[in-house]
Amino acid sequence: MSEFARRLAKWQRTHGRTGLPWQGTRDPYLVWLSEIMLQQTQVATVIPYFQRFRRRFPDIASLAAAPEDDVLAHWAGLGYYSRARNLHRAARLVVGEHAGRFPDTREAIESLPGVGRSTAAAIAAFAFGRREAILDGNVKRVLARHFAVPGFPGDKPVERALWALAESLLPARGIERYTQALMDLGATVCVARAPACDRCPVSATCAARVRGMPAAFPAPRPRRTLPHRRTAMLVLLHGGDVLLEKRPPTGVWGGLWCFPEAGSAQDALRLATRHGGEARKPTPVPTVTHGFTHFTLEIEPVVVRTATRAVHAGEPGTMWVPVGDAAGGAVPVPVRKILALLPGSDGKTAKAEKPRRTAKRA
Ligand code: ADE
Repeated sequence: MSEFARRLAKWQRTHGRTGLPWQGTRDPYLVWLSEIMLQQTQVATVIPYFQRFRRRFPDIASLAAAPEDDVLAHWAGLGYYSRARNLHRAARLVVGEHAGRFPDTREAIESLPGVGRSTAAAIAAFAFGRREAILDGNVKRVLARHFAVPGFPGDKPVERALWALAESLLPARGIERYTQALMDLGATVCVARAPACDRCPVSATCAARVRGMPAAFPAPRPRRTLPHRRTAMLVLLHGGDVLLEKRPPTGVWGGLWCFPEAGSAQDALRLATRHGGEARKPTPVPTVTHGFTHFTLEIEPVVVRTATRAVHAGEPGTMWVPVGDAAGGAVPVPVRKILALLPGSDGKTAKAEKPRRTAKRA
């Protein structure tokens, strides 16, 4: 037996969860019911549902014979109702096509509606003592950490590697206790954010821990590469002042003060000439990038000087502001970034500039 499996099984005897209402039985119906209820749902939540459900539907025949509404009523509050519908369908299948005998191999169990490979393996192990490997979310975390498996476990090649690892670790005997130990370790010790390594029976051989960073495994879901959109903003300067306009109340940066936005740099130049700007000599300023939740916006600032500001004088929704003061107003972050690049600013971008994972609004 692997040292890993041996230590886990030993730990489970004294530190694992015992006395749960589905643990004292090998009845495949009850094991199956508990494993379905325990998908995405914590043990403490499941217990009263499991007890009520088994009282009303004590065996697979009673479940198959029940109207769906009755089944759903006994699931009400547990969530993920497709689990209940699949359970009901599977019960009818077992009664109708397997003469009421619950299938007893992992492969056959896996063919039932609502049962994936890991759940099928858990049922096969707990109900029939089959030597099958489980790999639910918790177990993926335990193995990725212990063996410092790189990559996001949702990626197929990483998942395949974890399945192979899970199978290679199975003990020759005592599959039930070992399987329960893996589940218990993942749920109570090797937890996602702050693993309790001091209580872990396999911490001495845990590669993530040896590297001093247990929580760095497994790797998080990679960030999607977001689509890029481009826009241009006219930064019209008159002396030491810059022109800002108020955005409409709804939409991006609603109600904030911004440079006039144009579809492209050329449009921005056209806008500038209409306002008496020297369109041929825009001051080169680098593009500014701003991250929104669903896309990345690249803003090309078109900086143009104008000798007059008559056009915008007193127009509601526009104002000329000293460049050094503008960043202190109600302006979005990318406008602050651009202001910081202009002559007359102190070069500081405003606070709130620390990188954020998701920036919904500037
Ligand atoms: N989570 C999934 N299956 C479980 C089980 N049999 N015991 C405790 N937690 C679980």
